[in-house]
Amino acid sequence: MSSGEEYILEIRNVTKKFGSFTALDDVTVMLKPHECLVICGPSGSGKSTLVRCVNMIESRVDSGEILYRGKNIYARGAHDVRKKIGMVFQQFNLFYHLTVEQNIMLAPMHVKGVGKAEAREKASALLARVDLADKAQAYPIELSGGQKQRAAICRCLALEPDIILFDEPTSALDPEMIKEVLDIMKALASAGTSMICVTHELGFAKEVADRIIFMETGKNIEENNSQDFFEHPKSIRTRAFINQILKV
Ligand SMILES: Nc1ncnc2c1ncn2[C@@H]1O[C@H](COP(=O)(O)OP(=O)(O)OP(=O)(O)O)[C@@H](O)[C@H]1O
Ligand SMILES: [Mg+2]
Repeated sequence: MSSGEEYILEIRNVTKKFGSFTALDDVTVMLKPHECLVICGPSGSGKSTLVRCVNMIESRVDSGEILYRGKNIYARGAHDVRKKIGMVFQQFNLFYHLTVEQNIMLAPMHVKGVGKAEAREKASALLARVDLADKAQAYPIELSGGQKQRAAICRCLALEPDIILFDEPTSALDPEMIKEVLDIMKALASAGTSMICVTHELGFAKEVADRIIFMETGKNIEENNSQDFFEHPKSIRTRAFINQILKV
């Protein structure tokens, strides 16, 4: 059953297996429009699998359902949903044989049928927004990690997604480049973008997240508003995880 209006995304009791291994174990996560949700947890806890299921990079879930605006995204005929949910990856996933501008123009032209001139205009505007206007004709190899990630965010924004999924977007970056990417994510959150961010940047989580989820062994262990998540963690595991991250 879907509430339709209240949630933009409903991940309900989702189980995802790889062979006999259960990567997601009856996970429920709900996202309201304009919310910024942060997901953290140890390596192998299923964070990437969860966002990959939402982005339909995985071909199916084993049980449960994922609803976008009340519609099951894995239902036959729901393929259009894919355009509505953008994703930003840890390793950028840019096309290295294309310029930055071409990377950004590609999906609007091929997925949405936008004309070349309009796609270029849009790419320019997006690049200006992330302070990369001068790199439009550069190839990804010529960019720093932070610049690559900013370009990748532009590519995601070019499809005007309704929800953006970030999977550890800063963990491949040198420390001095993390801020420039987090600042863009903060701006997107402030502008009311509905987003799910898998990240261990707990400072970002504290400042920006409406809610934080701690995952472990494929389960949603704890979910709370950001203040209580840090100040009054319910689970001993959450507390241990927070302490471990803050020590690094
Ligand atoms: N395609 C796959 N085939 C088999 N096992 C997989 C596959 N994808 C993920 N897994 C397993 O599922 C579990 C969860 O992986 P996932 O990548 O979701 O973890 P994660 O929380 O994102 O970890 P990290 O913090 O290291 O990115 C891991 O044990 C992983 O080995
Ligand atoms: Mg991961």
